[in-house]
Amino acid sequence: MSHSGRFITFEGIDGAGKTTHIDALEQAWRRAGHDVVRTREPGGTALAEKLRALVLHDAMDPLTEALLVFAARRDHIEQVIRPALARKAWVLCDRFTDATFAYQGAGRGFDLSLLGSLEQWVQEGLQPDLTLLFDLPPSVAAARLQAARQPDRFEALDTDFFERVRAGYLARLGADPTRFALITADATPEAVAQQVRDTLMSRGLA
Ligand code: TYD
Repeated sequence: MSHSGRFITFEGIDGAGKTTHIDALEQAWRRAGHDVVRTREPGGTALAEKLRALVLHDAMDPLTEALLVFAARRDHIEQVIRPALARKAWVLCDRFTDATFAYQGAGRGFDLSLLGSLEQWVQEGLQPDLTLLFDLPPSVAAARLQAARQPDRFEALDTDFFERVRAGYLARLGADPTRFALITADATPEAVAQQVRDTLMSRGLA
């Protein structure tokens, strides 16, 4: 690692419940006195948030979607993530490149090797130190979301789409099992929180 901060990302299909756990972790790390940067993708800078609005709400072809997501990521890395890691901050990021492989790649069927090239160009070797994958069946996630809010372009897609996204995430985990931790998200919030704490403890990040 060329930096000495911590870079933790959170992934999973829509409705997996990761936000609650990012909130809890952010508070715990702040209480412990760490310099914490809480951010998200697509987004995290003024420019990237504009691109997020386009990606989530405007119709476009899969290549345009993938390029916009990586353009937003480039700005986010340059403006926020690298500077934070350079000053040894602890960065919590709600989604990162694994979401692109899962949604644009597995979900939309976009070419994975091209995504891999974009990943190399845009990230120049930067990868999360740890990625928590909140995994659960799409039917359970859909029931949670239905109760919660108006769907964006992705949340309005059918269960088959999310089955592919879930499989895409699990394939990324299979390809890099040391970076990932699998969290069984089809459980009570307390049980999920316990898994998150145990994982961080075992990685020296509590
Ligand atoms: P999400 O992170 O769930 O935010 P919110 O809780 O505000 O809905 O939503 C972001 C959406 O963007 C989600 O449906 C996944 C999608 N997405 C991609 O398609 N590709 C990406 O590379 C990223 C980071 C997100």
